[in-house]
Amino acid sequence: MTTTAPQSPSLRGSDADAFLADFRSMSTFGATAGGGVDRQAGTPADGQTRNWFRGLAEGHGFEVRYDEVGNQFALLELVPGAPYIAMGSHLDSQPLGGRYDGAYGVLAGAHAAIRLQQQLAAGGDEPLFNIAVINWFNEEGCRFKPSMMGSAVFTGKLPAEQVLATTDPRGTSVREALESIGTIGDFSLDLAAYLEIHIEQGRSLEDAGLTIGLVESTWGANKYEFTVHGEQAHTGATVIADRHDALLGASALVVAAREIADGFSTQEHAVITSCGEFTVYPNSPVVVASRVQLLVDVRSTDADVLAAADAELHRRIAAIEESASVRIEQGAQHVWAAKAYDEAGMALAADCARSLGLPYGTVRTLAGHDSTNLKDLVPTIMLFVPSVEGISHNEKELTSDADMLAGVDLLTELLGRVAAG
Ligand code: GLV
Ligand code: MN
Ligand code: MN
Ligand code: MN
Repeated sequence: MTTTAPQSPSLRGSDADAFLADFRSMSTFGATAGGGVDRQAGTPADGQTRNWFRGLAEGHGFEVRYDEVGNQFALLELVPGAPYIAMGSHLDSQPLGGRYDGAYGVLAGAHAAIRLQQQLAAGGDEPLFNIAVINWFNEEGCRFKPSMMGSAVFTGKLPAEQVLATTDPRGTSVREALESIGTIGDFSLDLAAYLEIHIEQGRSLEDAGLTIGLVESTWGANKYEFTVHGEQAHTGATVIADRHDALLGASALVVAAREIADGFSTQEHAVITSCGEFTVYPNSPVVVASRVQLLVDVRSTDADVLAAADAELHRRIAAIEESASVRIEQGAQHVWAAKAYDEAGMALAADCARSLGLPYGTVRTLAGHDSTNLKDLVPTIMLFVPSVEGISHNEKELTSDADMLAGVDLLTELLGRVAAG
């Protein structure tokens, strides 16, 4: 006969333990060997995570609905007919992404709503609004472009039909992917305000010893799909003077983007540039590339700084066409304007952080979030918790349990105040 030692009560409390247990369960979906997750939008792993979240929400009395592009809404109807205060983020991930990016915010929103429900049951002030927790479809934009796709449709920035017809590199459309995981519907929501909490994905909070970041403004970002056209040739037999090497032109563009980041950043506003995707055709030994497809993104928190960097990128493209003897075609472009978050909302969040004794500061973001879209529709508050060493889009992404829990405490406090009107 075996006996088990009695479980010692947790020092953190049952709400905290419940959050951490749910976080660990959620992290098993699409889990990778390196400790991260692979839950690209509309894949079976994304579908399993969505179903798990549906079960969690329904278990706490939420009703779960989907809209026409697969945004998932967990609804807590407290005041029949009233508009909703929504919290949200995304459960999809990059390939070999981390467990926290997006998923933390969705779960934190659910737990904040559950705690508010408990406070109401214990006689707390009646809210003026209903509560929703939203898992936005395809925030990451790795399988289907652009990023922040579901929230873009919800806020009227992209037509649903265009999004549903968008295909991944294998030709599967968003509509087919959503149908295959069974998360497509016709729901729509009357929204009054939006709150999002997310890991910082940078290291400014950790460096400053802060627990909470109040995000004061979001990026401006210009993301471009370029195709560099050259001419396929023999790498040995074709003399240099006769070549139109697409890979040479594409490489020059990658280097130019980096030089623009170095040259156009100001003391106040960084310019961040990247090439995150690069495909060479035919990518074969002894063949000069005929074509390269690449994505270049240029970001800054300041519109003028971004515009200057962008103009330089286009000047450099013309110069590269000349020097590498290639043609560079600009395909789809996705553009977001830098903009501030709601000032009154930031002041309210600061007040909540003070009342909970949480060290906070203001931050800017150069990573995209669904709140980037939502802030153009309704008053929006964006909060960050620290990322260890700023690592993100990496299986090693980490936020401490204590910081995750502090974020849930703050979101709960903020939700209670916003919902009380
Ligand atoms: C998306 O998250 C981005 O930062 O582009
Ligand atoms: Mn994210
Ligand atoms: Mn991400
Ligand atoms: Mn993002």
